[in-house]
Amino acid sequence: MGPKLGLNRLFFKVEGQNPTGSFKDRGMTVAVTRAVESGAKVLVCASTGNTSASLAAYASRAGLRSAVVLPSGKVAAGKLTQAVAHGARLVRVEDNFDRALQITSKAVAISKSLYLMNSINPYRIEGQKTVAFEIFEQLGNRVPDYVVLPVGNAGNISAVWKGFSDLKKLGATKTVPRLVGVQAEGASPMVEAYRQGRAPRPWTAPETVASAIRIGTPVSWKKAMAALRGSKGEALSVSDVEIVSARRSLSASEGIFVENASATPIAALGKLKGIPKAATVVCITTGHGLKEPIPEDWSDTSPPTAKDERELVRLLA
Ligand code: F0G
Repeated sequence: MGPKLGLNRLFFKVEGQNPTGSFKDRGMTVAVTRAVESGAKVLVCASTGNTSASLAAYASRAGLRSAVVLPSGKVAAGKLTQAVAHGARLVRVEDNFDRALQITSKAVAISKSLYLMNSINPYRIEGQKTVAFEIFEQLGNRVPDYVVLPVGNAGNISAVWKGFSDLKKLGATKTVPRLVGVQAEGASPMVEAYRQGRAPRPWTAPETVASAIRIGTPVSWKKAMAALRGSKGEALSVSDVEIVSARRSLSASEGIFVENASATPIAALGKLKGIPKAATVVCITTGHGLKEPIPEDWSDTSPPTAKDERELVRLLA
């Protein structure tokens, strides 16, 4: 895929390989450990799906109860299955993620037994930043020139920036990568705000096939803005058609299967102008493809049947 795009050093950081199939596990293991220490009883989050899957898994291992608040109808089937399998209590909100997070935060504020596990929890960010350390290590103790990643509630871009900034502070590197934050066109308040040089306005009806990042009011927008500015980065939006097509090319040409949101960096690569051929570019693919069904038109719904080996040879050739 790299050479086709005129990039000789294109890498994918495949976060779908984490225990619950998304980057969320990095921060969740730290935040759950901290919650155990502090004596928390019920761990809660609002989620578009991956955070809830991760929270449910780590809470179950820690012997704590978990409860997840989900926007109705928009959570990918695989993620819902995970939350159920790990024994989380599920609550629906007849609205989008932004509203779900708003009332979850308020509920936590008025209850003594609930402990908030969304990425506003600073321990989540501390764990999540390890992806920057791993990228550095895996490139032979060098930082890449660009890191391209999806942006939803903007916790991840904040964490990645913290990781690379820490490496610089520690003297491990003199340079930091440019961060390229990618949103879906129908849910791109950060892209709009970064271009216009102001705070994001709330998008009240975000809509995209990338359900994980169907978010109109990114909670960590200030940190994300600092990450984009501090890294001399870029914010780009991609259409749903581009996302789905990037998801398909990545699985067909690289053997890496991702969910829709995680294909946004790939969709953005073709739109990034002026990247030198020799630049080291890392796309973070945030979640596994098995979490989210593929479009119906990708699959042959009625494959031919083989009655014997002769027919099989004919069909397979
Ligand atoms: N990619 C995937 C697969 C995600 O699930 C998310 C966020 C993001 C990217 C964006 O990360 O929000 O830190 O900017 N998922 C959250 C959730 C919102 O509830 O699982 P972000």
